[in-house]
Amino acid sequence: MDVITAVMLVLLLLVLAWSYVLGSNSPKHRGKLAPGPYPFPIIGNIFQLGRKPHRSLAKLSETYGPLMSLQLGSIYTVVVSSPEITKEVLQKHDHVLSGRTIGAAAQVHNHHNISMAYLPVGNQWRKIRKICKEQMFSNPRLDAGRSLRQEKLKELCDYVRECCVKGRAVDIGEAAFITSLNLMSATLYSEDFTSFNSESTTHEWREIIRGVVKTVGVPNVADFFPVLKRFDPQGITKEAEFYFGKLLEMFEDVVKQRLHSRNITSPNPPPKKNDMLEALLDLGEGSEDAFFSSNHIKHLLLDLFIAGSHTTSSTVEWAITELLLNPTKMSRAKNELRTVVGENKQVEESDISTLPYLQAVIKEILRFHPAGPLLIPHKSEADVEINGYTIPKNTQILVNVWAMGRQSNLWSSPNSFEPERFLDNKVVDFKGQYFEYIPFGSGRRICPGLPLANRMLHILVASLIQNFDWELEPGTKPEDVDTTEKFGLALHKAVPLKALPVKLTTFQ
Ligand code: HEM
Repeated sequence: MDVITAVMLVLLLLVLAWSYVLGSNSPKHRGKLAPGPYPFPIIGNIFQLGRKPHRSLAKLSETYGPLMSLQLGSIYTVVVSSPEITKEVLQKHDHVLSGRTIGAAAQVHNHHNISMAYLPVGNQWRKIRKICKEQMFSNPRLDAGRSLRQEKLKELCDYVRECCVKGRAVDIGEAAFITSLNLMSATLYSEDFTSFNSESTTHEWREIIRGVVKTVGVPNVADFFPVLKRFDPQGITKEAEFYFGKLLEMFEDVVKQRLHSRNITSPNPPPKKNDMLEALLDLGEGSEDAFFSSNHIKHLLLDLFIAGSHTTSSTVEWAITELLLNPTKMSRAKNELRTVVGENKQVEESDISTLPYLQAVIKEILRFHPAGPLLIPHKSEADVEINGYTIPKNTQILVNVWAMGRQSNLWSSPNSFEPERFLDNKVVDFKGQYFEYIPFGSGRRICPGLPLANRMLHILVASLIQNFDWELEPGTKPEDVDTTEKFGLALHKAVPLKALPVKLTTFQ
């Protein structure tokens, strides 16, 4: 270590110590705190999180129990990993425990003050959630976008068909990512977000989405030690400013163009679109307090694309991975599609309710590989008592959904992929009532995009397996398939799944 590095290190330690003293939300003399591993000075338990915090925390909870304390730098945190305590947190005390801890990246462009995902539970947040529920994700609204989404699935199948003819492997996660983005943009504003065409410039937009997702998902030392925020030691805030800015600019253009076409007064104005953007603009114009401005719309679009794209595509990638590794389950899913939907018809959203095995596959994937293994961190807005322990105001709360999905007292053979368990037990669903299984969360903060995600997941997986047989790349054995996870905003495969489409079915 050279002198400069040593001095830098000493300075850093001093700053951290200062930050600890000034910024620590470490609760003092405020009742009995939940047990947890011993926190090291200044850094606390940060290093115990490891690269896969959902797994490390599940392991630690085996020693310290289902309500566990951690000190993450200056952030006092509790980790919940039993259905009983989850129910206390997300149902009984939900009104106090639904705040958010907000990382530095989410604060760029003032996003956290407008964003549904980061606003505290209050009037502004409630209004946006209501708009989402009624104007965007209600069944009639979603039904209105069905045919547009069907076109995007056709584009996916055309792309895979081309790979099939050329004998090329498909990067399933990337194909699902492109399609998820286009399914969302078709639903939200009737346009394509990106394209399979490698020459199209729209692939840059995918990189921008990835940039935002990365800056929000990557651990930021400035979040653990807020006093470092102004120094932005990892350069994350700077990057976030760039990527958020680009995406907001893009959505601003989308809104401007639509406003322009709504204002055209020629004898032949373009037909009015029947999509969510139109509904949102109607709302802005008509509402008395004109609460929902163009600025709200662009931040809302950003939230929806960031929260909805990687979560959906990584779930699809895991589903195809597990089906490929379990050929009898793949055959069962394909046979169901063949017998229920028929040999000559392309599966559609309206078929989903008639496909119990497909539904069981999706449920099982969300248990086995939940995209949000710790939900989005919650925060307590006041002191709360649970199981005799105090959760002080401003505590960060992590609900370990992944751990609960893998507990042998809750699930038989929890470490194997068994969609059949959901055929035997059809009652359990992911809508937030069964606290051992909450891949979309529960209570006030439950994922507002669930109705759209539900449709997209089923129809994406169904389209991929109805139209094609899949094989691993030549020379790859099932045991070579790397199922290592990568933790980020969504829990995805560390190594992309490349699979070879063979034998295609051609529909009219
Ligand atoms: C929040 C899961 C798809 C929009 C969440 C949360 C989870 C989740 C676990 C956090 C809940 C909490 O903090 O308690 C998933 C999964 C998806 C998915 C597993 C698909 C596989 C979508 C889609 C959209 C969306 C498609 C939008 C089109 C959101 C938003 C939030 C959220 C905006 C923040 C809500 C708030 O804080 O009030 N989602 N999600 N999600 N999700 Fe999803």
